[in-house]
Amino acid sequence: KQTGYTALDQGFVNTASTRSEITYIDGDRGILRYRGYAIEDVAANSTYLEVAWLLIYGELPSKSQLEEFDEKIRRHTLLHEDLRRFFDALPHSAHPMSVLSSAVSALSTYYEDSHDVRDPEQVEISTIRLLAKLPVIAAYAHKKSLGQALLYPDNSMSFVDNFLKLNFGNMAEEYQVNPVLSKALDRLLILHEDHEQNASTSTVRLVGSTEANIFASISAGINALYGPLHGGANEAVLKMLGEIQESGDGVQKFVDRVKRKEDGVRLMGFGHRVYKSFDPRARLVKESADEVLADLGISDPLLDIARELEEVALADDYFIERKLYPNVDFYTGVIYKAMGFPPRMFTVLFAIGRLPGWIANWREMNEDPKTKIGRPQQLYTGPAARDWPQR
Ligand code: CMC
Repeated sequence: KQTGYTALDQGFVNTASTRSEITYIDGDRGILRYRGYAIEDVAANSTYLEVAWLLIYGELPSKSQLEEFDEKIRRHTLLHEDLRRFFDALPHSAHPMSVLSSAVSALSTYYEDSHDVRDPEQVEISTIRLLAKLPVIAAYAHKKSLGQALLYPDNSMSFVDNFLKLNFGNMAEEYQVNPVLSKALDRLLILHEDHEQNASTSTVRLVGSTEANIFASISAGINALYGPLHGGANEAVLKMLGEIQESGDGVQKFVDRVKRKEDGVRLMGFGHRVYKSFDPRARLVKESADEVLADLGISDPLLDIARELEEVALADDYFIERKLYPNVDFYTGVIYKAMGFPPRMFTVLFAIGRLPGWIANWREMNEDPKTKIGRPQQLYTGPAARDWPQR
């Protein structure tokens, strides 16, 4: 009920926009659970597709349910041939995140029935299409940026292997599908699958609350994710590490600039609206960084800079007082780079990871009879009523 009283909560620091049964976070204790399961257990024991099922349908799938889900997704990976040509119309210099959101928006034009958001069959088939096609679109965005041929998906391969092949299938041997990388990528995708009402998920819900279809809603979510304060942070971290390396100034000098807030510079990959002791995902990602680089026999000076930055920041009063800790984006870029992805693809990988969470939230909102169109209030601070001037 409207009370006539409007509270100002800039950035939604204290206001819950919805009830949800999907993901639980306790930011003070560094706890993250998907449908009640601890993220550590999920990451150790599951796969991207199994977690997608869990998030979307609420329970872990049986073996046969998972097989059927996997099979359906394999059958929907192909993009309409015209949509492949859509990529030709975009400039090579386009950022893959812009390509991704545009192509997902364009999917609406191929699946007009998806506008019937009250039809469960439509929602179901759109869910499968999104999960199947987003990785293909993502790989095409990558290939497009390199000026390389777009490959067709190979549906005999697993979800993650197929994605890696689409990206690296026609590249040098060191980029070919490797089980260590497949496993590591699957784990990273799991860690990104949902994170309750973050900016992109809230965007998906807000757009969806107008009864816009799921493709339109998720395209909007991808655009929200693009910003460097959200998913774009993983690309920004690598840029920051590279700049520290090139400057030759060392980590402490950079941290001092951050503390002086010189030119608004922030320690990218640090800080979180919700986590105030540690981000449990960051710990798991750091483990993966060590494992993947060791396995590939790569020693990346950027990883050393990241480790040193973390150590210096965690011992510094500026970061301690403000409860700033490494977040999920701090170490992912170093791993994606070792896998062969260019920095401009990092946020695209986050988007593939987050897709099941966006879908689960869109569906939960759509199925809730209490859902109302999202329509925040404002506190007006402009001029009082005035007379139109005589001119
Ligand atoms: N480096 C330096 N100072 C920071 C940082 C940082 N990364 N993050 C916050 N602060 C300072 C900020 O300047 C402010 O200081 P003061 O009280 O002196 O004004 C104080 O900490 C509180 O910051 P805030 O901006 O009010 O915090 P917020 O909850 O609104 O912002 C955040 C959260 C994630 C946007 C922010 O911490 C940030 O910009 N981090 C860097 C970008 C980043 O890594 N984003 C990824 C987030 S995790 C994955 C995801 O959600 O996509």
